[in-house]
Amino acid sequence: MSVDAIAVEMGGLHLSNPTVLASGVHGSSLAKVLGALRVGAGGAVTKSIGAVPREGYPEPTLVEVEAGMVNAAGLPNPGAERFSEELAEIRGRGLPVIVSIFGGDEREFERVAKTLDGNDFAAYELNLSCPHVAGVGTEIGHSPELVARVTKAVKRSTRKPVFAKLSPNTERLVEVGRAAVDAGADGLTAVNTVRAFPVDVESGRPALSNGYGGLSGGAMRPVALRCVYELREELDVPIMGCGGVARWEDAVQFFLAGADAVQLGTATVRRFDTFNEVNVGILSYMERKGLAKLADMVGAAHRGGFSGGTP
Ligand SMILES: Cc1cc2nc3c(=O)[nH]c(=O)nc-3n(C[C@H](O)[C@H](O)[C@H](O)COP(=O)(O)O)c2cc1C
Repeated sequence: MSVDAIAVEMGGLHLSNPTVLASGVHGSSLAKVLGALRVGAGGAVTKSIGAVPREGYPEPTLVEVEAGMVNAAGLPNPGAERFSEELAEIRGRGLPVIVSIFGGDEREFERVAKTLDGNDFAAYELNLSCPHVAGVGTEIGHSPELVARVTKAVKRSTRKPVFAKLSPNTERLVEVGRAAVDAGADGLTAVNTVRAFPVDVESGRPALSNGYGGLSGGAMRPVALRCVYELREELDVPIMGCGGVARWEDAVQFFLAGADAVQLGTATVRRFDTFNEVNVGILSYMERKGLAKLADMVGAAHRGGFSGGTP
């Protein structure tokens, strides 16, 4: 089966395959983003970039848990101006690099987008959803009004596609998603990490310096799948599924729930070149199921699976 069968066109973003490196997991180095494309990812998202440089939180910022990890890095990043210089390196290459941006309000998001926009990259992802940095994430991502304002401000500043990355930590998930779409978002990323609070038994203290962190990896996959399913049920918009994808079966679950592509984060810490293996698995599943293109399975779980009828 030709690899063209798994190429994805979503909201003006072209991906040669549906596996994308998720934001931030490998720090703010652009080299890792480019490395992911070299080892088979169809696209790659940068660390979230803000208006000014940020150091992030002191250690410990990461703890392992069963089937995942909890992190509170505190959005360390070089700031938009410095990152813009880094992006200049990839000018003229037309790479499927997606730049993640964050800010405290719509003016800050707009400022970051304007600083970066002259560079050659494929799309923006709005980090509306970081669960552990006060004032720059969850507060915005839980409010449909603020999400609409941020999305409009970024859309005004660019002609590139804009994806809004949602938080799983709100009952208003679909409302927030709809607000982003109505404000002009070209697609959604579902989702960021699940708000968590690990505790260290020996010290008796919170295990992370920040206390709260975000759960990622296999442990959160059913939550992320639920989010994708709920969004696809209500909204007609491209969706990138994110949360606990490590194997082709995980990716297929997301497609069946309604995602057009998937992002891989935590799984790439253990094996950076996971993308190819996932793509090969997706292709052989499609062959076995007689599916000519990826889109044929997107959202099948909403339609009673492949044979029809009630799920
Ligand atoms: C160490 C670490 C850093 C992260 N940094 C960011 C970030 O800067 N921006 C963002 O939108 N998401 C960030 N995330 C969230 C991931 O992009 C992704 O949404 C989440 O980890 C779920 O996917 P996974 O289970 O495949 O890792 C980070 C996750 C981890 C583990």
